[in-house]
Amino acid sequence: MNMAALKACSALVSGANRGLGLEMVKQLLEALFRSLGLYTAQDVNGLNLLVNNATVLPQKTMLTATVEDMQNTFNTNVIGALFVIREYLPYLRTAAKASGKPGMSCDKAAVINISTDSASMSFMPVLKEPFPFFPYSISKAGLNMLIIYTARDLKVDEILCISIHPGWVRRDMGGASIDARESVEGMLGVIGSLTEKQNGGFLDYTGETIPW
Ligand SMILES: NC(=O)c1ccc[n+]([C@@H]2O[C@H](COP(=O)([O-])OP(=O)(O)OC[C@H]3O[C@@H](n4cnc5c(N)ncnc54)[C@H](OP(=O)(O)O)[C@@H]3O)[C@@H](O)[C@H]2O)c1
Repeated sequence: MNMAALKACSALVSGANRGLGLEMVKQLLEALFRSLGLYTAQDVNGLNLLVNNATVLPQKTMLTATVEDMQNTFNTNVIGALFVIREYLPYLRTAAKASGKPGMSCDKAAVINISTDSASMSFMPVLKEPFPFFPYSISKAGLNMLIIYTARDLKVDEILCISIHPGWVRRDMGGASIDARESVEGMLGVIGSLTEKQNGGFLDYTGETIPW
């Protein structure tokens, strides 16, 4: 993946005190420092890149999830993402207008929702391993619908919107395939190469399209 394609001057990542959010901020800063010579302070105008990464993941099944589990998960994973987008929309619009570039790209203005393949209605029925995160999957399916609406409604502002799956990333519990660095390098490479062709899409960290 070509991270050099990523030229966002200003970015906001929610849930960045640990995990993939923290790794993403580190790599965005590295990319910014590498390209510092390309920018002056006047280049920062509005917000280029908004990443909805914050998530909660209660370990509950369809049979054990409580009303509170469902509400808390939706509050952070769907409603939180919606209102972060609404709050920062004026800044995204400013960046899109200020860019003066045609089309859509993340160095102009973009909303990236970090989703999961476990929200895919095609993927879940064929998943072999048990996946005891029912409220999470349901909420991320809602987050995916949020990106469909957002992409449609913000098209007029030329703000690019996608959902992305970061891969299954190694945590203490193990069982996953890639580490955080590889996942974020992949996602930033994909994000940096986006155009209006991918607007409203659901991709993974390698750039492959995931079926809804
Ligand atoms: N790791 C994987 O294998 C994997 C796979 C598929 C998708 N994803 C997606 O990738 C993203 C990052 O996952 P991760 O593994 O890095 O998660 P994580 O380690 O559990 O980190 C979640 C982050 O979200 C923050 N957060 C939770 N609730 C919040 C709230 N109400 N307001 C603000 N921040 C809040 C947490 O802050 P606190 O520290 O304060 O709790 C933490 O910084 C998520 O969207 C997840 O769904 C991850």
